[in-house]
Amino acid sequence: MDFHQSRVKLMNKNVTKTTILVSGAAGFIGFHVVRKLLNEGFVVIGLDNINDYYDVNLKYGRLRETGIEQSSIKYGEMVQSTKYHNYRFIKANLEDRQAIENLFSTEKINIVCHLAAQAGVRYSIENPHTYIDSNIVGLLNILECCRHNKIEHLVYASSSSVYGMNSKIPFSENDRVDHPVSLYAATKKSNELMAYTYSHLYQLPTTGLRFFTVYGPWGRPDMAPMLFATAISEGKSIKVFNNGDMKRDFTYIDDIVEGIVLTMKVIPNKNSETPFCSLFNIGNSQPVALMDFIQTLEDCMGRKAKMEMYPMQAGDVKITYADTTKLEQATGYKPNTSLKDGINCFAKWYKNYYK
Ligand SMILES: NC(=O)c1ccc[n+]([C@@H]2O[C@H](COP(=O)([O-])OP(=O)(O)OC[C@H]3O[C@@H](n4cnc5c(N)ncnc54)[C@H](O)[C@@H]3O)[C@@H](O)[C@H]2O)c1
Repeated sequence: MDFHQSRVKLMNKNVTKTTILVSGAAGFIGFHVVRKLLNEGFVVIGLDNINDYYDVNLKYGRLRETGIEQSSIKYGEMVQSTKYHNYRFIKANLEDRQAIENLFSTEKINIVCHLAAQAGVRYSIENPHTYIDSNIVGLLNILECCRHNKIEHLVYASSSSVYGMNSKIPFSENDRVDHPVSLYAATKKSNELMAYTYSHLYQLPTTGLRFFTVYGPWGRPDMAPMLFATAISEGKSIKVFNNGDMKRDFTYIDDIVEGIVLTMKVIPNKNSETPFCSLFNIGNSQPVALMDFIQTLEDCMGRKAKMEMYPMQAGDVKITYADTTKLEQATGYKPNTSLKDGINCFAKWYKNYYK
C-alpha cells in the first residue's frame, strides 16, 4: 500500500485511549461506523437528534443494536451502552451550540467523524431551512469545537451530489463542482469550503468524503434500495425515474465503513497536497444501470417488481461514477463487495427485519 507517508501523518495511538465522536450515530452510515470502531476497541461517543425525517423506529432499532435503549435516552444526557463498555450516546441537535460546546468541554475527544446531516436531494426542495440548520450551522458548531479543543482529525461526509450535472465521467476530485442542482448539494459543497477554511486558518486537519449511493442492511427508507425492497415485498409499484435510464455507483455499506475508518487514521498535515485538508471520492467505481439493480433485487427478494415509469425529477442526475484512485493511494481503500453479494445481504436483512 502506498500511504503517501510524506503527505500525511498516520494515526499511531493506542486505540483504547482514543475517543472518537461519531455524529449521526443513529443514522445508516453512522451506526455501522460506530459498530466497526467499537469492535476495533476505540472509545466511541455517538451523537444524534433522532429526527423523524424517516421512521424513527429504525433509528431506535440501530441504537438498540449498540446497547442504547430508547427508554434511557434524554436530550443532552449521556447514556452508557449496555452492550459495549466503550460506547456512550448523547441525543443533541447539531445546531444547539451550547449542547455541542458542553460535550466537547466535558469529554476529551481526539477524532470527530461527522456524519449527521439532513440528507436527501428531493426533500431539500420542500424543506430548505432544515438543510441550512443541520448542515451549515451544524457543521459550523462542529468546526468551532474542533478548533478550540485541538481535535486531531475531523472526517466529515460530503456527497457525490456536489458534481451536479457533471458530464465527464468518472467524477474526479479535480472536476469543477460549482454547479449544484439541489440545495442539499449546495450545503455539501459549502461544507467542503468551510472545512478548507478551518484547515487553512487554524491548521485543523480535515478530510471530506464524497459518498456515492450507499446501500446495505439497516439502510435508509428514503433511498431507492429500501423503497424498491418495500414495494416488491408489499406487491406495490416501484417508481422508476427517467424511465430507468440512470446509473448509480452503488457502494456497499461495509466497503464504505472500511474506507471511513481507514481515512480517520490518515491525518493530513502541513505537507499534504492541500495543507491539513483532504477531500476524496468514496464509491465503488462501477456504476450500475438502475434496471440491473432492480433485477438483482428481484432475484434476491424472490419476487418480481411492478414498475411505474416517470420522467427525470428536479435535482436528480443521470449518472454517478466515482474515480477513487486518490483515496486508494492515500489509504489503501479497495471496495470488494459485488453487487450480487451486497444486494443479497441487504435483502436477507430486509426480509428478517420486516417479517
Ligand atoms: N447514504 C448515502 O448514500 C449518502 C450519500 C451521500 C452522502 N451521504 C451523507 O452521509 C451522511 C450519513 O448519511 P446516512 O445515509 O447515514 O443518513 P441518515 O439520515 O441515515 O443519518 C444521518 C443522521 O443524522 C441525524 N441528524 C440529522 N440532522 C441532525 C441534527 N441537526 N443534529 C443531530 N443529528 C442530526 C439524523 O437523525 C440521522 O440519524 C450524511 O451527511 C449524508 O448527507 C450519504
